[in-house]
Amino acid sequence: MKKTTVSFQLTTYETMEALPTVDQNLMKAAVSARKNAYAPYSNFQVGAAVLMANGKIVIGSNQENACYPAGLCAERVAIFQAGALYPHETMVAIAISATSMKYAVASPAAPCGNCRQSISEYEVRQKTPIALMMMGESGPVLKCNAIADLLPLAFTNSFLK
Ligand code: THU
Repeated sequence: MKKTTVSFQLTTYETMEALPTVDQNLMKAAVSARKNAYAPYSNFQVGAAVLMANGKIVIGSNQENACYPAGLCAERVAIFQAGALYPHETMVAIAISATSMKYAVASPAAPCGNCRQSISEYEVRQKTPIALMMMGESGPVLKCNAIADLLPLAFTNSFLK
């Protein structure tokens, strides 16, 4: 029998302003994307912004639907759009910001399991890490160095022969 401990590094920035400039600009893009969320059912607004290696920023916000499961999270709207626009470009980082129309979300919102899986697909494909920053309506911001950190033991294409 063997036991393994899986751990990863998480950096906390007390405010958005404490982030390095590149990260700060990405988070600003997520915040402004959040404002265009279509969330009439949950009133929960999420914005995501993906930084490409070519410097382009691709944004997304959650898009809900009267048939609830037909809606999509901000992270997947952003990451799929990035994959569609720049299929040969590396994704460097993704920033996420969430708040509610009913209350100010005070702690960082982590991506749901489906979004982790979707981001992981691109990380595995490009073979370089996609850093991830999470924030509520405003700081603090949590940053991890790779989506693999948030999705250990991921199911990947290595199983599909
Ligand atoms: N949502 C996201 O956009 N990202 C997440 O990671 C979690 C949840 C959205 C989906 C839905 O529109 C609303 O937040 C409430 O679940």
